[in-house]
Formats: sequence, structure tokens, C-alpha cells
Amino acid sequence: MQNKHHSITRALLRWYRRNGRTLPWRLPAGHAGNITNAYRILISEIMLQQTQVSRVLIKYPEFLKRFPSLRSLARARQRDVVIAWKGMGYNNRAVRLHQLAQAVTEHHGGRIPSTFEQLIALPGVGRYTANALLSSAFGKRAAIVDVNVQRVLSRIFWTMKSFDARRAALDIWTFAEHILPTGRVYDWNQALMDFGATVCTARQPQCPRCPVMSLCKSRSSMMTRRASISKREATLNGIPNRIHRGRIIERLRSVNNSRPIRFHTLGKSILPNFSVRHHAWFALLLSGLAKDGLVRIAGNGSLKNNRVSLA
Ligand code: ADE
Repeated sequence: MQNKHHSITRALLRWYRRNGRTLPWRLPAGHAGNITNAYRILISEIMLQQTQVSRVLIKYPEFLKRFPSLRSLARARQRDVVIAWKGMGYNNRAVRLHQLAQAVTEHHGGRIPSTFEQLIALPGVGRYTANALLSSAFGKRAAIVDVNVQRVLSRIFWTMKSFDARRAALDIWTFAEHILPTGRVYDWNQALMDFGATVCTARQPQCPRCPVMSLCKSRSSMMTRRASISKREATLNGIPNRIHRGRIIERLRSVNNSRPIRFHTLGKSILPNFSVRHHAWFALLLSGLAKDGLVRIAGNGSLKNNRVSLA
């Protein structure tokens, strides 16, 4: 595994330099310095624990404007912190963040501590957040494993079939620490997050865009899965076309003497908000049903006035 994981980390770091996201709490890829504003990193990591990047991008600058320093946060009333947290959800985080600021003021002279033991003892800080701070704010060698990183590492390094068994035998955190590239820990951690968010995604991994596809243990199962996802049946409003087809037939069955129904009237009885933007989709469903010998379509060329009946 030794040489192989070096090739993988090298390829993903190269990918990150070219494709990494620019985020306001981040140092640019390949930066020289290590220590950044720990308070700003702390706020971003607490926000990102349970809120999507797109929302954090909006709330992060607002929160920092309201509480520009740890000292200002520690001095604030709890309710003002909770109010500033509005729109982020999971308000317990705001309460704990406030407590954290007070604990840091009281026990660490207002400076966010830089050891794992001190960090993990703070309110709202678990293994992930402690390590995120160590690697991002203090330039230390610490791995971070959230669900995205776990997915990326497990896909690349184990075949999905054998993953569960291997996971039991080998702690993913230990593994993640083992493969940290020397001197590039910060970029590596950010790279894994961006790669998981944009290429090695949970539902539809973009294998053709993957820089480590040839080295990935799950490549064949992922490609099979991609194929089955693209073949998955089409839907409208989250309802599979198969169900819409069934509803069309039910509707046609319910009219007396199999009297034809106008295209538009039929559409409206299937979708209450039926409009021109559904025409192509609906025409395709109907022509499929006609091809299967289930319905008959009679018309004068204008789609809207076509008449549909059971065949
Ligand atoms: N999720 C948690 N930390 C993150 C970070 N630094 N960048 C992007 N997503 C994250």
C-alpha cells in the first residue's frame, strides 16, 4: 500500500491545486504559512459541522461582523449569540460556542489552545473539530474524518464489497493519520473535503473526472453503480414516470364509454399545475403508452387539442 498511497495523495493534491474551492476561511492551495486566525477557523468549523457550505458562505461573514473576536463573543449575552446564529439551525451549537469563548477567556487567557487535549475539553469540540483546528489553525499533523472523508477514503482504498469487514479491523481514523502527506497536511485535508463534495460524491460519483480512477479499489463497482443510476427511471416532481403512466390509464379508464379526453384536460387531471412547460414530457409519456398499445391519440396536429383515449 505504501507506494500506492503516495501516488494517490500526490494526484489528489495536484487535483486540489487546480480545482480546490476558494472559501473565505481557507488559505490558498500551496500556501507557505501555517498559522492563521484560529478564531475564524473555529467559527467556520463549528458552522460546517452541520450546515452546508452554501449556507455557511452567507452566514460566516455576517457572524464575524457581529462578533469579530473571541473576546467580543465571550462578552456577549447568550441570547444575542443565538440570534446571530439564526438561519444556521442546530442552535445548541451557538450556546456551546458562546460557552467555548468564555472557557477560552477564563482558562486560556483568551487564546484558543493548540493541543488536542485542551481543545477536546472545550464545549462543542469533538475529535473532528479539534483536529480541524490543529491542522488548519496551528499547522499540526492531524487527520480529519467526517462522513465525506470516510466515504472517499473507503472507496479509494477498499473495494466496496469488502469495506465493512475491513472497517471493523482497521480504524479509519488511524488509517487517515497514516496516509497524511508530510508537510502538506492542511492542503490534503481540504483536498479530501473538496474532492468528496465535487467528484467522489455520495450519490453520483463523477468517476470519469477522477484523477485516481486507475488506482481506485472501487472503480469497477462505482462504474456499475453510475451506469445503473443513469438508467434509473425518469421522474417528474420526484414521482417516477411509471406512476404517472399508471395515473393516465386510471383517468382514461374512469371516463364513460372511453370517451377521448383532450391532451390539456388529461394533463391537468394528472398534474394540477400542468402547463406548457410539461407538454414535451407529457407528450413523451403518451407516445410511449401509444407505442405499448395502451392508448390511442387522435389529433389535428396541435398537441394541445390532441384527443387521447384507451386503445
Ligand atoms: N467542512 C468542514 N470543514 C470544511 C472546510 N474547511 N472546507 C469545506 N468544507 C468543510
